[in-house]
Amino acid sequence: MSTLIDRFGRRHTDLRVSLTDRCSLRCTYCMPEQGMQWIERGRHLTTPELLRLVRVAVDQGVRTIRLTGGEPLLRPDVVGIVRAIRAMPHSPEVALTTNGLRLTGLAAPLADAGLGRVNISLDTMDRQRFVRLTRRDRLVETLAGIAAAKAAGLNPVKVNSVLMRGVNDDEAPTLLLWALEQGVQLRFIEQMPLDAQHAWDASQMVTAAEIERSLADAGFELTPVADRGSSPAEIFSVNGGPQTVGVIGSMTRPFCGDCDRVRLTSDGQWMNCLFARTETDLRTPLRAGASDAELAALMRLDVAAKRRGHGTDDPGFTRPGRGMSAIGG
Ligand SMILES: C[S@@+](CC[C@H](N)C(=O)[O-])C[C@H]1O[C@@H](n2cnc3c(N)ncnc32)[C@H](O)[C@@H]1O
Repeated sequence: MSTLIDRFGRRHTDLRVSLTDRCSLRCTYCMPEQGMQWIERGRHLTTPELLRLVRVAVDQGVRTIRLTGGEPLLRPDVVGIVRAIRAMPHSPEVALTTNGLRLTGLAAPLADAGLGRVNISLDTMDRQRFVRLTRRDRLVETLAGIAAAKAAGLNPVKVNSVLMRGVNDDEAPTLLLWALEQGVQLRFIEQMPLDAQHAWDASQMVTAAEIERSLADAGFELTPVADRGSSPAEIFSVNGGPQTVGVIGSMTRPFCGDCDRVRLTSDGQWMNCLFARTETDLRTPLRAGASDAELAALMRLDVAAKRRGHGTDDPGFTRPGRGMSAIGG
């Protein structure tokens, strides 16, 4: 039973851990092409520090750890991190969000280390669009990574897609057809105001409703599947099932009421929400010799102060101090 409980009674069992803020792509909705402010090397948690904080969170009831970033597979010891988390008490489930570029070499060792679920980001099936969206010519490697994840038995393999107006907003049906053929679960995510360069514009966002309409117009029959639990995605069976598609309406259909997530950045800051404007510094007390009980108390205090919702539709909404890639998406 989790002791990470907020004022609204939400219990937190899902920890997103950013392994690095560095990335091998430069997706336009996430980072600028140049001039990114990177976290200084010395501020990154060492692997023993990171594992200690994860273990303290597990002691507080966390049961799923999702490794993310930046690009988590850029961390040289990612396989060892997965193995070490799986060996912790309660054998927490380990999931991964990745751009897939390094999966051809890493999918099998990761599966062997105990990785379960994997989400791979892919916004387009068109090479030129991929270059425009990610500023890198690496579509072939992403597709190879998805194939490697399936071959390694990682299950389920989900694919995350962000649609951008005038760039790939016509591609929802193509992506879904491909995902059905591949036997991977597609999830569309609404674009959020979390890009490092602050260019997000509500009027340009492709909404969950538009995505569903576009799939219906293309002839897909979508039937809502009941009971999404704490999953952010609304799940629809496609053409009578069993295959499904998910739509994550983070902006137009927030799901904060069921949120069970907390976050640890690669520089040791604890956050109770992707949109939190405050962070609790765990790195400084950790390096100053804090006990597990003291670190756990800091985690609990931060969670207790979690807001009811992410507040993006509040008139006074202000963005968090850093972008998605530095928090951990
Ligand atoms: C920040 S990335 C980190 C993990 C890994 N590098 C990857 O590509 O999946 C995690 C997810 O966040 C999504 N993402 C990044 N910026 C976003 C934004 N502004 N709005 C919505 N999703 C975003 C990406 O498409 C990706 O699926």
